[in-house]
Amino acid sequence: MEEWRTNVEALQARALDELRAASEPEALERWRVTYLGRRGALTEALRGLSALPVEARPAAGQATNEAKRRLEAAAGRREVELRDQSLTRAIDDERLDVSLPGRPPVRGGLHPTTIILREITGFFQRLGYQVVEGPEVELDHYNFEMLNIPAGHPARDMFDTLYVAPPEVLMRTHTSPMQARVMESTRPPVRVVVPGRCYRYEAQDATHEWMFYQVEGLAVDEGITMADLKGTLAAFARHVFGSRVKTRFRCDYFPFVEPGVDFSISTPDLRDGAWLEILGAGMVHPRVLRMAGYEPDRYTGFAFGMGPERIAMLKYGISDIRLFYGNDLRFLEQFLS
Ligand code: DAH
Repeated sequence: MEEWRTNVEALQARALDELRAASEPEALERWRVTYLGRRGALTEALRGLSALPVEARPAAGQATNEAKRRLEAAAGRREVELRDQSLTRAIDDERLDVSLPGRPPVRGGLHPTTIILREITGFFQRLGYQVVEGPEVELDHYNFEMLNIPAGHPARDMFDTLYVAPPEVLMRTHTSPMQARVMESTRPPVRVVVPGRCYRYEAQDATHEWMFYQVEGLAVDEGITMADLKGTLAAFARHVFGSRVKTRFRCDYFPFVEPGVDFSISTPDLRDGAWLEILGAGMVHPRVLRMAGYEPDRYTGFAFGMGPERIAMLKYGISDIRLFYGNDLRFLEQFLS
């Protein structure tokens, strides 16, 4: 019996030593199998009881069972200890260092065309104009016919076109077709500005792109005169280029206006006060009014069409129109506000 007890104690001591050395869940599991498993040392020991004399068995069994319980309790504590340790380690390892500087978000900005379009349309909105948009894929009927540019008319040479489905469906060459579309669908008074993309079959250079924007303007009512056109455009020029600006009208030809003008500005702030053309305009041609269903003896109106890129080029000192749509961030980033 004494020998049995000594053996059990030695077994327990060894087991506890090894348990302390088990530093991972896998090691703990192996330890459990070795000592407490179905074929483990303690179970084997209990089985060995039958080899003892009958009277020695109860005490030996009790000693063995106690050792087993102690080992089970110790294993439970060790398991908790290991779990705590791994949690502490994880917290240490995964700690977020909030003192690290963050990654700055990439900040976008408005395209220079958008900036200038908003400035232009914003000005006219404050004068009571509505902003409307029209189709970029347009019909010959609106792009030309309704603007008094019949097929075969030499004025068509002013607008080299890109066709989608010739001869009737094309990319609009200007925003002027919206004059007819607006008049067809509303009665006077009309005051609209039409920003939008236009397309031309064009040899590109520093001042010509095959895709560009225009802003069309149209005002039709009873009693509108050239003086209204001049006052409106002069106010617009002052708004965009400052109060020192001078303005000039010269005769020009566009089939859909009569008389037609080009409108130039001059300011000491730009190119030493040289005259710079910024748009075409005129009094809406009576034939254009009539085709759209307005009575030309009752209504008159003016129209204008400008290239916002050209205005932005003057205002911001941009030398090449191709920069606008070349997607070069070095250019675009200069307009971040
Ligand atoms: N549509 C003309 C162009 O693209 C510009 C223009 C000129 C528009 C005179 C007008 C206007 O409304 O009255 O060249």
